[in-house]
Amino acid sequence: MTVHIGAEKGQIAETVLMPGDPYRAKWVAETFLDDAELVHEVRGMFGFTGSWKGNRVTIQGSGMGMPSMSIYANELIRDYGAKTLIRIGSCGGMQEHVKVRDVIIAMTTTSTSTPSSTMFRELNFAPCADYSLLSAAVKAAKSVDVGVHVGGIYSSDTFYSERKDLDEQMQRHGILGVEMEAAELYTLANRYGVRALGIMTVSDHLLTGEALPSDQREKSFGDMVEIALNAAFA
Ligand code: HPA
Repeated sequence: MTVHIGAEKGQIAETVLMPGDPYRAKWVAETFLDDAELVHEVRGMFGFTGSWKGNRVTIQGSGMGMPSMSIYANELIRDYGAKTLIRIGSCGGMQEHVKVRDVIIAMTTTSTSTPSSTMFRELNFAPCADYSLLSAAVKAAKSVDVGVHVGGIYSSDTFYSERKDLDEQMQRHGILGVEMEAAELYTLANRYGVRALGIMTVSDHLLTGEALPSDQREKSFGDMVEIALNAAFA
């Protein structure tokens, strides 16, 4: 057991899918896994372990924002030996060709800061996705009926941004979407030599103001889980 994860060591699989929302973790476990077992519920941030097509997998909520993601990813990697971590979440679209309901597979993550920024000092570290996961996800996405984009995303510290100028600069530089966790997940995976990837459905759009209707959220989320599981065990 760690400070924030109440599971025994052997109860967490080497492959972990991480939605921000713990109730999404529950839904993914109930919908996609065989023999899913709740392995802990410290702070209500559920972890479930079960199997998918015979492969052991844990679904662990990350919470919102990089400090929360950092806590769970650190403990999963350093204490439980997680080797493959895939964020499954939502993001805001930042380009016109990126539509609500599309899926973004994040090759790079831009940020103004991560929990590691103070450590890096003047270094502008570029958090990098695992290529084997990235290419497997792109391949898996071809058999799912959804628009897919591969490229850079922005991991923000704020959902309610006051920096419209910053959004504009990122849009000029091709950033596809904004979310709040992936840069720290990638940084930790890079540090500890494990595999990480972020796959996000576009739930709202910064340019158009459009939002995914609530009755379509589950279907979109399911498409993304399908891609993530196929990529993890490719
Ligand atoms: N900003 C930050 N994170 C998000 C957004 C957003 O607009 N939409 C979904 N996650």
